Amino acid sequence: MIMVAEKVKSDIKNPALADAGENRIRWAAKQMGVIKLITERFSREKPLRDLNISACLHVTSETANLMLALKAGGASIALCASNPLSTQDDVAASLVVNHAVSVFAITGEDNKTYYNHLRAALDHKPVITMDDGADLVSELHKGPLEATKGILGSTEETTTGVIRLRSMERDNVLRFPVISVNDADTKHLFDNRYGTGQSTLDGIIRATNVLIAGLKVVVVGYGMCGKGVAMRAKGLGAHVIVTEVNPVRAIEANLDGFEVLPMSKAAPMGDLFVTVTGNTTVLDVQHFAVMKDGAIISNSGHFNVEINLVGLKAMSSGRRVVRPFVEEYKMKDGRLLHVLAEGRLINLAAAEGHPGQVMDMSFANQALSAEYLVKHHKELEKRVYVVPKEIDEQIAALKLASMGVQIDTLTEKQKKYLASWEEGT
Ligand code: NAI
Repeated sequence: MIMVAEKVKSDIKNPALADAGENRIRWAAKQMGVIKLITERFSREKPLRDLNISACLHVTSETANLMLALKAGGASIALCASNPLSTQDDVAASLVVNHAVSVFAITGEDNKTYYNHLRAALDHKPVITMDDGADLVSELHKGPLEATKGILGSTEETTTGVIRLRSMERDNVLRFPVISVNDADTKHLFDNRYGTGQSTLDGIIRATNVLIAGLKVVVVGYGMCGKGVAMRAKGLGAHVIVTEVNPVRAIEANLDGFEVLPMSKAAPMGDLFVTVTGNTTVLDVQHFAVMKDGAIISNSGHFNVEINLVGLKAMSSGRRVVRPFVEEYKMKDGRLLHVLAEGRLINLAAAEGHPGQVMDMSFANQALSAEYLVKHHKELEKRVYVVPKEIDEQIAALKLASMGVQIDTLTEKQKKYLASWEEGT
């Protein structure tokens, strides 16, 4: 039965979308067996009782299920978007109207509104923050020391956020402990690889409706996300080329069966480019200058800095939107290049982000890390911590159980053998 919240602070597109959003949230819940178990336990034990949490995450149906788990644990939540294009407005409406969760997120919001929404989430006076890209933490650190005094700690969802936070730790400016959810095995091995792999191709296909089979797809960066994108593009019949700067990753790509080239050689060959490096300007003016007429350029890395759009604009004589999420740049020599979703995360802009099955594990890490911060914040220093191994393994075990998959256990003899150095040939 849908309950209408009385007075929930929010800035969303349209509360009337709440019922459609509720259907979506419930659909995602069906794929999220671990979050379901955590929600049930949190309802009983209330480990987050009376705590204010501010979260800056992609406002999707899977995130909504995390918010409901935290709420079941007793927390009061304010949620804003971690990307201006990724909000599902119906989900935002349902969270506000049906679940009394404060949401500040509207799809397509401009930069000013995006930052106003971040600040609105922080006005909630959180003791725990959750980030996907470290925007809340960095906003908090722009303010006076007073503003961060009561904060127990934060959690971080993605590679790019962890890179920012580790650099804050190195510079001794981090004011509270942070748990890197991204570093959990049950996060990056599945979310970054299988989630980004599938949803990136999904976003590209929804935006363009191109046949992937037969295309030369250039995957820029062979990290966890790049491996997923390359694997799925190959599965759809593409000829995949990988570019890398890390020699080990380049060997891996080569032995996984992909052609590895420097971008100067790949740029004139590619029909479709996907950047997933977490780095800046990996597709630059010298690459646009030699790309084929009709090439499609997209990004699935966290920030919209991987493709030098300022440089591309300067090189072009005009641009127009030819389909939703597809902008055609007319180059001065007549070639047309197509940029998807303004260079922002294509899987969240044009598709729906990662499926529930992988977000189940990522968000189980978020929920259990929040609980861990409450229990252990006094022992933690102002550093970036990896999710404790016990939590990671517990999530894997719960996930297997929810999938109905059983595995073997070590015998006593095997345990002894693995722990000893004396037994050899
Ligand atoms: P990662 O660190 O495992 O891999 C990045 C790879 O890019 C590394 O192997 C690095 O050597 C390579 N690289 C860096 N600069 C390069 C350059 N100039 N040319 C070619 N390769 C280069 O990171 P991961 O986990 O794969 O994440 C990549 C990005 O995707 C991050 O921004 C992360 O936050 C984001 N991400 C996006 C998701 C989505 O839903 N779209 C989900 C998870 C992560």
